[in-house]
Amino acid sequence: MARITLRQLLDHAATCGYAVPAFNINNMEQGIAIMQAAAEVDAPVIIQASRGARSYAGDLMLSHMIDALERTYPDIPLCMHQDHGNDEATCASAIAHGFTSVMMDGSLKADAKTAADYDYNVAITRRVVDLAHWVGASVEGELGVLGSLEHGGGEQEDGHGVEGKVSHDQLLTDPDQAVDFVRATKVDALAIAMGTSHGAYKFSRKPDGDILAMRVVEEIHRRLPNTHLVMHGSSSVPQPLQDMFNQFGGEMPQTWGVPVEEIVRGIKSGVRKVNIDTDCRLAMTAVFRKVAAQSRNEFDPRKFLKPAMDAMRDLCRERFEQFGTAGHAGRIKVVPLSEMARRYRAGELDPRVDARESVAA
Ligand code: G3H
Ligand code: 13P
Ligand code: ZN
Repeated sequence: MARITLRQLLDHAATCGYAVPAFNINNMEQGIAIMQAAAEVDAPVIIQASRGARSYAGDLMLSHMIDALERTYPDIPLCMHQDHGNDEATCASAIAHGFTSVMMDGSLKADAKTAADYDYNVAITRRVVDLAHWVGASVEGELGVLGSLEHGGGEQEDGHGVEGKVSHDQLLTDPDQAVDFVRATKVDALAIAMGTSHGAYKFSRKPDGDILAMRVVEEIHRRLPNTHLVMHGSSSVPQPLQDMFNQFGGEMPQTWGVPVEEIVRGIKSGVRKVNIDTDCRLAMTAVFRKVAAQSRNEFDPRKFLKPAMDAMRDLCRERFEQFGTAGHAGRIKVVPLSEMARRYRAGELDPRVDARESVAA
């Protein structure tokens, strides 16, 4: 059995210079697709479930599904992570259902729509860190509000993230504040804002530095070289998938995601977790459309789901290879939660934020 914490996995990724894609799941097919891809290339995995996924599948179904995936693939270290936890209760109940890691997204208030102030974010994130570390689970915090620099924040098509306009400053994580935040909260990983947003419609053109501010990642890494950075909204929305979706009756306006080469640039600057949901959705639904269009008499759902699962598996495998995750599963000896808890209590895992934080630019 290989249920691993985010902290142990990202420590390993940092030591070896790779990143781990964190794929969202809502159902069995997505879970199997990720594990098949991981097994093919010997990659450790992060599977994450949003609050929406937990209410869609139900906690009981989800937690037993993860147990089954873990038992089916005992050689693949599997981190189960709560995506965008909005309060202490969401995070605590995730841990109670076997999640080894939680995101406390205190950049937004509990409604997950209103931008929160810094003090609120620090206080709630620190409370979640305290409760999670008691049992050895890891915590990802977020500083800065995810949203489009082109649109000034809001206008996220899938209802995720801040509602309405926010200031340009709020959309880019402040490096000085990041140092303070990590020290004050003791998070294991830090999600930062640099112009990405959730969903398919991230950029209206191939992004350059004006709308995808990778320099912010590099600056934060310079100040916090020991902190694991997380990129949200990191689907690439590949053109071939857009084309396939539209070829078979879809109506997706032309859009651009985060180019893989920009993510690889981030990995050289401390990015260790890369969140991808939209690409997996698109890979599957483009295939649904194709099957529906080409086999108009088909009514067996497996004839839709099996090729869709294969498409998602191929996408996941490609990301494992591109991010350098491939080949590392067998090199990790999983540390149990109880030992992680002991290490936190002993102060052995406290963030090291004093190294280069004050080096002048
Ligand atoms: O946070 C955004 C993820 O893509 C999850 O989306 O809440 O629709 O499951 P969801
Ligand atoms: P995408 O919508 O780009 O896949 O981002 C997913 C994400 O950040 C989940 O937290
Ligand atoms: Zn996200």
